[in-house]
Amino acid sequence: MKNRIINGDCTEVLKTIATESVDFVLTDPPYFVRYKDRTGRTIRNDRHPGAVLKAFDEVYRVLKPDSLCISFYGWQAVDAFMQAWKSAGFTPVGHIVWHKSYASSARFFQYRHEQAYVLAKGRPSLPAEPLSDVQPWIYSGNRSHPTEKAVGILKPLIEVFTQPGQVVLDPFAGSGSTLAAAALAGRSYIGVELEAKYCELIERRLAGVSRYLRAAA
Ligand SMILES: C[S@@+](CC[C@H](N)C(=O)[O-])C[C@H]1O[C@@H](n2cnc3c(N)ncnc32)[C@H](O)[C@@H]1O
Repeated sequence: MKNRIINGDCTEVLKTIATESVDFVLTDPPYFVRYKDRTGRTIRNDRHPGAVLKAFDEVYRVLKPDSLCISFYGWQAVDAFMQAWKSAGFTPVGHIVWHKSYASSARFFQYRHEQAYVLAKGRPSLPAEPLSDVQPWIYSGNRSHPTEKAVGILKPLIEVFTQPGQVVLDPFAGSGSTLAAAALAGRSYIGVELEAKYCELIERRLAGVSRYLRAAA
């Protein structure tokens, strides 16, 4: 199964994916912060850790031995995320911080970063040229999805941790930024997304990426 976008609940859909068939997972689950943007857009399951975190058991199963999962997370729920990742079998081997030039909100501090854990299944090989774990943030504009990540922050991770043709999975695909980054990097992709409207958007987005790659070839 590759270059597929599947509309459904990843805690169920991932059960249909073969064990040890995926090379790399790069994902951005709900943060459990009751997110609502200025226009009122929300994220499905952002109040329901139980409907999200059990997906990591399946993520671990479908990953090949000695591979990585990079997962964004909400720092407010770090304990729940870490418990789910560790009980799935993952070992944290790195932590990435993206520094924003603007504050996404302000309370005790101006909140100016996004973050992701790097989680190992087994003992993945080390990259020849490791990236810095502090990266510049690129604002996506959130035009298609309220928490859309920019392709430019995802593609370097895919390029460092996978080879051309390998399979990248995003079980919480949203607008499909991970899948677009994988396609642009010459990797295969599998995306799962609960909301049908975002799956339709991803199909259109990936068709555009294919047209771009064909024209550039
Ligand atoms: C933080 S957003 C991902 C945004 C994405 N990184 C992007 O760049 O557009 C999380 C997504 O997970 C989806 N989601 C929530 N629970 C899910 C589930 N159980 N299975 C599949 N998708 C789910 C939501 O609908 C939402 O689009």
